[in-house]
This record gives sequence, C-alpha cells and structure tokens, in this order.
Amino acid sequence: MVDMLMSKKLLIKSRLKNYEVSFVDGLAEPIKASVKRGDFLFIDEKVDKLYGEKLRGLFAEGSIIALDASEQNKTIDNCYRLIESLIEKNIRKNNTIFALGGGVIEDIAGFISSVIYRGIDWIFCPTTLLAQADSCIGSKTSINMGKYKNLLGSFYPPSKVFIDTDFLKSLPQKELKSGIGEMLHFFLIDGNKRLAETLMADYNDLLSSPGDLKEYIIASLKIKKEIIEIDELDRGERNLFNYGHTFGHAIETVTGYAINHGQAVTMGMDIANYLSLKLGYIDKKAFDDMHKILDKNIPDFKLEEDHIDDYLKTLSRDKKNIGKELGCILTKGHGKMMRMQIPMDGKLKSIIKSYFEESGSHAEDIS
Ligand SMILES: NC(=O)c1ccc[n+]([C@@H]2O[C@H](COP(=O)([O-])OP(=O)(O)OC[C@H]3O[C@@H](n4cnc5c(N)ncnc54)[C@H](O)[C@@H]3O)[C@@H](O)[C@H]2O)c1
Repeated sequence: MVDMLMSKKLLIKSRLKNYEVSFVDGLAEPIKASVKRGDFLFIDEKVDKLYGEKLRGLFAEGSIIALDASEQNKTIDNCYRLIESLIEKNIRKNNTIFALGGGVIEDIAGFISSVIYRGIDWIFCPTTLLAQADSCIGSKTSINMGKYKNLLGSFYPPSKVFIDTDFLKSLPQKELKSGIGEMLHFFLIDGNKRLAETLMADYNDLLSSPGDLKEYIIASLKIKKEIIEIDELDRGERNLFNYGHTFGHAIETVTGYAINHGQAVTMGMDIANYLSLKLGYIDKKAFDDMHKILDKNIPDFKLEEDHIDDYLKTLSRDKKNIGKELGCILTKGHGKMMRMQIPMDGKLKSIIKSYFEESGSHAEDIS
C-alpha cells in the first residue's frame, strides 16, 4: 500500500484495454492534459454547482452537459436523447466523454461511450465514496429499464480514472455511509480484519473528515482489482462480490429504497453471516466478531413479521437463483466466502425471521 501511495497510481488490466487510476490533487490539471478539441463533459448537476467553475474554460461552449444524478435518468430514453445531442454537436469517433460525478453519471457516460460509434473513449472522475472505492473500476456500465434496475449494460472500462478525495468533503453523510458499506464488504471478503476494524474504529472521525479515507479507498480498489483482473465478465470469482448484496438488494426493494445501497449491503452481510451461523458454517464467536465490525454501519431498521414474506418473495426473484434455490454468498469466517444454493423453504424463513427478532429489538420499522 505504501508503494501505491507513493506512486499514486494503480494499473487495471482489462480484456478491452488497460487503464490507470490516478490519485490527484485537483482535476483541472489532469483534465487539461487529457482534453482535446470536441470532447464533452458529463457532470452531476450538484457537483457542477459546487466545483464546475474551475472546469468551464477547459471545454468548448455547449460541451458541458449537466445531469441530474437520479435513477430516473439512467434510462434508454435519456441516453437516446443525450446521444442525439452529441451527434448534433458533431462528436467524432476520436473524441472523449469526461464524466464527473457518482455511479449514476458513470453508468450514463460509460453506457453511451460503449455504444456510440461502437465505442469511444471516456474518462471518469468519481466524486462519491462508492464510485471512488468501488464502481470506478470493473468495467460495468448499466442503465435501468422500467422497474428493473441495471438491466441493460455492457462491460466497457474508462480509459483513465482520476480520483480527488477532496470531493468527498461535500458528500452527504448517508452517501459516505453507503461507500463505507461497500468498502467493508471488500475487507471482509479479503479477510483483512485489521483494515475493517480500524475503518470502524475511526468511523465517526472519517465521517467528519472524509478526505482521510484515501488509504481505505486504495485498499478497496486493490482487492477489487485482484478479482476483476481474473474474472472481469463476472462469470466466476467476481460472484464473491455478491456477498451481502443478495440480502441487501432485497432490503432496498422492500423498503422502496429508503435505505441507501451500502448500508443495505452492510445489513445484508450480517444476514448472510447469521445464515452461515444457523447453518453451522461458523460459530457464534465468528458471527459476533464480524457483527461487531459491521454494527455501526447497519441501518436502524427492523423488518416486521408481516413483511417477512415480501422479503422472501423479493429474494426468490434474485437473478442468481437456480430453480427454487437461493443463490447467495455465505461465509466460513473472515475471507472465507463461498457460493451457495439455499433451499427457499420454511427453514430459511424461520432463520430470517429470527434474525430480525434478535437484531432489531431497538430499531424502528420504516417498511
Ligand atoms: N457501474 C458500476 O460498476 C456500478 C457499481 C455500483 C453502483 N453503480 C450505480 O451507481 C449508482 C449509485 O452511485 P453513487 O452511490 O456513486 O451515487 P450517485 O451518483 O447516485 O450520487 C449520490 C448523490 O450524491 C450527489 N453527489 C455526488 N458527488 C457529490 C459530491 N462530491 N458532493 C456532494 N454531492 C455529491 C449526487 O448528486 C447524488 O445526489 C446506482 O445507480 C448504482 O446502480 C454502478
């Protein structure tokens, strides 16, 4: 990690093209060094208001496109309109789309770049913790279709990533907690107990000085890099990253997205660990050890008994299921994750029910 901090660069190998993640102090210089005549900037509206001024002079008039970072904008219709406007403005095959924002702007820019002229370059400058510590590498670009999230997409990496952790200073706390959830998930999968414990020991300090998260962002990216370089297309090893996600997605769905993604994943990991305990893969001490790490980032939420069936129904629709079995990642302890198929039967229901009875006794029901 020290080497990485000194060089401030991480090379990611991809089947399409290798790309570099660079940690920078300010974006004006690195963008100035990469931008060409006719390039475009897609920028999150909020980020534009806060930081856009410094970048105005780097792009031609009409080439900066400010976008609302909402899920409703991650659609084929919106992408169609944007592509139409890029074509009208004469974008060429050798032009680059710069994207400045979180995962929503990343998905829109990455998806459009992957299809326009069968692929043009794009450069990503992530401004949320989730995008800096996770989504900026891995090549996935996804847009929503109707009620289905991330249904359409491609594997299409950016040609460069510039990370400036100063952007995190304006990020709302719930977005920071969401990013922390994703980082925790990497540290638990990797078995890096020390990092997970120090991250959570410094939790409150880091929420008030998020610029200090850099070491953890680098560590997360290094863990992700190792796996995506073996299985970029998510056909094998990369499935491990679903740890916490199967149970977490279902929490997001049954609460109508009232809980942010990373905190739902944190609770999802706790549920996966609880299931692992009840199925005899780990002992109580291992569960408690991991629970202690996750605890502060678990949302204050309890699924009432009436909603357990909705939750199970949502789990039953997960795309990783085979037949009537739930495809999920369970654990034999820190760093020992395993892919499993669990029968969706009364036993699973009673374990999920007892998880919420035991863990949620002080939490409020927002379902
Ligand atoms: N492509 C991938 O690999 C991948 C991976 C994970 C998630 N995603 C997608 O990413 C999206 C979530 O992205 P996200 O969590 O990065 O957040 P986001 O893009 O949804 O942004 C969250 C909020 O933070 C604001 N914001 C962004 N940067 C800011 C800053 N520096 N200061 C103040 N406000 C700022 C945004 O305007 C928005 O209101 C989802 O659509 C998800 O599906 C994609």
